[in-house]
Amino acid sequence: MTATPARSIAPAAYDAVSRSLHWGMATLIVIAFVLGLTVDLFPKSWDHALVEIHKIIGTAILLLLLVRLGWRLTHRAPAPEEGSAILSFAARAGHIALYIVMFIVPILGILYAVRRGQGLDFGLFALPPLQAAEPRSITRPIRTWHELAAYALIAFACLHAIAACWHHFIRQDGVLRRMLPASHRKAL
Ligand code: HEM
Ligand code: HEM
Repeated sequence: MTATPARSIAPAAYDAVSRSLHWGMATLIVIAFVLGLTVDLFPKSWDHALVEIHKIIGTAILLLLLVRLGWRLTHRAPAPEEGSAILSFAARAGHIALYIVMFIVPILGILYAVRRGQGLDFGLFALPPLQAAEPRSITRPIRTWHELAAYALIAFACLHAIAACWHHFIRQDGVLRRMLPASHRKAL
C-alpha cells in the first residue's frame, strides 16, 4: 500500500501563521500608505516622528514579507478552488503580483531614505545614516517611484479584496473562509 505523506495533502484552510501574517501585514500596509500620504497634513513639528514611524512600519513589512515567503515555501497552502483554469491562473498571478509589489515598495523607500542621508530613529536608539544626503534632484525620481509603487500595491490589494468578496457573496464558495480563523469558518 502506498500511503500519501500527510505533508503532501493540501489543507482545507490557511494555517494560523499564514493567516496572522496576511491580516497583520495588510493592516500595516494600509497604515504605512495612509501615513506616507498624510504626513504633510500634521503640524510641521510632527514631521520627523511621523516619517520615522512610517519607515519603521515599512521596514517591518519587508522583514515580515521575508518570514512570510519562507513560511509559504515550506508549508502547503489550500488547493485552488474548483473552477476554470483561467480563474486559477488569475488568482495565482494576482498573488504573485502582490508579493512582488510588497517587496518593491519598501525597497524603494529604503533606497530613498538611504540616499537622502537618513538613518532610522527608533526613539530609544537610532541606526546612523549610511551616506551623506544626495541632492533632491537626484533622489526625487526614487521617491516618485516609491509613491507610484505604493499606489500600485493598494490598487492590486483592492482588486484582490473585491475578488475575495466576489467569491464569498456571488460564487458562495469557501475561498474567503479559508483565510479566516477556524471559529469563523462555519458561522459564515
Ligand atoms: C509597504 C510599505 C510602504 C508603503 C505602502 C509606503 C508608502 C509611502 C507613500 C504613499 C509615501 C508618500 C509619497 C510622497 O508623498 O512622495 C511615502 C513616502 C515616504 N516613504 Fe514610504 N512606504 C512604505 C515603506 C517605506 C520604507 C521601508 C521606507 C524607508 C525605510 C519608506 C520611506 C519613505 C520616505 C522617507 C518617504 C517621504 C516622507 C516625507 O518626507 O514626506 N517607506 N511612502
Ligand atoms: C494590503 C492588503 C492585502 C494584501 C497585500 C494581500 C495579499 C495576499 C496574498 C499575497 C495572498 C496569497 C497567499 C498565499 O497563497 O501565499 C492572499 C490571499 C488571500 N487574501 Fe489577501 N491581501 C490583502 C488584503 C485582503 C483582503 C482585504 C481580503 C478580504 C476581503 C483578502 C482575502 C484573501 C483571501 C480570501 C486569500 C486566499 C485566497 C486563496 O486561497 O485563493 N486579502 N492575500
